[in-house]
Amino acid sequence: MKSFLKVWFLLIAFIVFGLFSGCAGEESRYGVLGKSVGPYWDVVKKGAEDAGKELDVKVTVFMPQKEDIPRQIETIETWISMGYKGIAVAPSDPEALVSPINLAIEKGIPTITIDTDSPNSERICYIGTDNYTAGRVAGEKMAEILGGKGKVAIATGSLTAMNSLERMRGFEDAIKKHPGIEIIEPILCDNEETSRAVELAETALLNNPDLDAFFGVYAFNGPSAAKAVKAAGKKGKIHIVSFDVTDEHLYLIDEGLIDATIAQKQYLMGYEGVKILHSMNKKGMEETLDSLPKNKDGDCIIDTGVDVVSRENLEGYLKIMDQWGIAHTFSL
Ligand code: BGC
Repeated sequence: MKSFLKVWFLLIAFIVFGLFSGCAGEESRYGVLGKSVGPYWDVVKKGAEDAGKELDVKVTVFMPQKEDIPRQIETIETWISMGYKGIAVAPSDPEALVSPINLAIEKGIPTITIDTDSPNSERICYIGTDNYTAGRVAGEKMAEILGGKGKVAIATGSLTAMNSLERMRGFEDAIKKHPGIEIIEPILCDNEETSRAVELAETALLNNPDLDAFFGVYAFNGPSAAKAVKAAGKKGKIHIVSFDVTDEHLYLIDEGLIDATIAQKQYLMGYEGVKILHSMNKKGMEETLDSLPKNKDGDCIIDTGVDVVSRENLEGYLKIMDQWGIAHTFSL
């Protein structure tokens, strides 16, 4: 009987030890929280997972189906309670995410923003596009394509996320210099739901028979507008300037439905995000921050840069995709 008890004792000890060593395995689990499901975020995921493999650490990447602020808050809270060692988040609402981000920081979990910022939070760095400047570049490109005259509809996936607001502000500032261009109301917002984006573009075409162009603020907005334009038989009559490059963009640019797109470097947001979080844990916060760029206010902002992609330089961007190991069915 005694030896039977001993076996049980050992078994329980093994289970408890196993659980704790399981926790030790969590020592280096990082969380990357995106904004919606789609090919843009697949690339961020690939970057984060590649970094995880290189560093031999665990990475969880999660995206809500569509824009979902409560889900983002809940996810960060869960990751905090699970003892994640670092979090990279793309806040769909910069203010609503202040409190979970600050809670993570309070608990000693390095937390950074990627893709879109939450500057009023305690996040340590922002890694992503300079969205205001990128929006201006899009506006200038649009003005050039329209020859300084025409009616433009803006389609976006968010009226709260900072990247969307900054891109639109930059775009509008660039357009203001061209009094012949009118931006129509209202802004078409689909809350990162692709089917809704197509519907909104179709309605805009019906309500504005004299529309000349769409500005697609998020990755799926350009292709969604292109679908609506094609279905309305207006290919060649309506111009599209979009953001990002996905496989779909490549076909649509080649087909002449999208005139130009502002390609972000989202692979780096995932890849550098995980690498920086890990360095904060391993090398320490001070040493890591010393090696990172700061703006004039001392804030750690890592601008990943953009490329303007059109039919003329598609080949160059395909090379970048290949370099990152991003699958595409399109080829020239
Ligand atoms: C934006 C992301 C957004 C994505 C949607 C990108 O342009 O940077 O914030 O979630 O589009 O696919």
